[in-house]
Amino acid sequence: MALTKEIIENTIQPHGGTLINREVNAELKETMLEVSHSMPAITLNPWSLSDLELIGIGGFSPLTGFMNEADYNEVVENLHLKNGLVWSIPITLPVTEDKANELEIGESIALYGEDNHLYGVLELEEKYTYDKEKEAAFVYGTTDIEHPGVLKVYEKGSVYLSGPIHLVDRPKHDEFVDYHLDPSETRQLFYDLNWKTVVGFQTRNPVHRAHEYIQKAALESVDGLLLNPLVGETKSDDIPAAVRMESYEVILKNYYPENRTRLVIYPAAMRYAGPREAILHATVRKNYGCTHFIVGRDHAGVGDYYGTYDAQTLIAQYEDELGIQILKFEHAFYCNVCENMATAKTCPHDASEHLHLSGTKVREKLKNGESLPKAFSRPEVADVLIKGLQEK
Ligand code: ADX
Repeated sequence: MALTKEIIENTIQPHGGTLINREVNAELKETMLEVSHSMPAITLNPWSLSDLELIGIGGFSPLTGFMNEADYNEVVENLHLKNGLVWSIPITLPVTEDKANELEIGESIALYGEDNHLYGVLELEEKYTYDKEKEAAFVYGTTDIEHPGVLKVYEKGSVYLSGPIHLVDRPKHDEFVDYHLDPSETRQLFYDLNWKTVVGFQTRNPVHRAHEYIQKAALESVDGLLLNPLVGETKSDDIPAAVRMESYEVILKNYYPENRTRLVIYPAAMRYAGPREAILHATVRKNYGCTHFIVGRDHAGVGDYYGTYDAQTLIAQYEDELGIQILKFEHAFYCNVCENMATAKTCPHDASEHLHLSGTKVREKLKNGESLPKAFSRPEVADVLIKGLQEK
């Protein structure tokens, strides 16, 4: 969708100044569908497919393709692209060495999904090998294979392909059609709603009271709230995206002002890279048109790999360069004496009065067949989660 000059000028600048759109028009799509049969082909796994989509729709602006070696090294070592823009996580296309050997530089490569559908075309400019241990240590802060993001690094092909992409077809996200908007569409939406300031919220968990507390605290100072649950690949014990989205539907209906909140999917894969991923999450939400972004407790963390506020500390170093305002929240809990949600900043009572909430705790309780107390989860949300897990 093409944005008018007025919207471009009246919404936050995308990262790098231009909202990328690599989606081909109908005519080119026809041609590509025809010629793709004679191109060498690769099958993308769901992770790479979601990266293709995000490059194509401009979520990863200013990227126009998968990273070349110079950008890759700069990102891994220095959290910047070669052109000097801050960027924290490599966006790369891995293949096996055997597959890479079949492909020639300068060729157009057809990119299929696991459903054998043509989603894109890559103009192959470079093939390069990389150091997995180094990528794990620099990006994830650990080489421990138990870390789900690190495991992915070790599992993937040992050669990266790079070059600009064309998005021939977008993944449909049929389950979430009502919530499937591209960055250009969310920008249009915010403009139409006259939201001058918008706070973005990343999540991979079902909504609990601490989420609601920090979302609403943020909403007190801005015009609108973009709830932007990640619906791409997550680790197997995370709650499925469809159940999480349903939990948002019920909570929105019952507890949020309609004119100040919008729910839109974020079709990315979860890296669990904690501090580095917080920076990526903020960058992408800026591209979606958010002026503010929430970073709370152990953002994008997993297990005990990152400290509670590591993501806040790292992102603070890059906040000016990022050009999106970061709203940092302390670990929120329910206090039995306050009879309210609070943080150490707002509550004077003893820790024994505090009920700590997290996605992990919600999952544990559900797994053990325990009910979710009201202080933990809205009853409507608890019902959705229990039903969702029974069906699973
Ligand atoms: S994440 O992996 O997407 O970060 P989650 O969905 O649990 O996980 O968190 C979404 C956002 O809410 C993150 O910014 C996270 O830091 C924040 N958050 C989650 N739980 C709490 C809590 N109890 N207190 C403060 N912030 C929280």
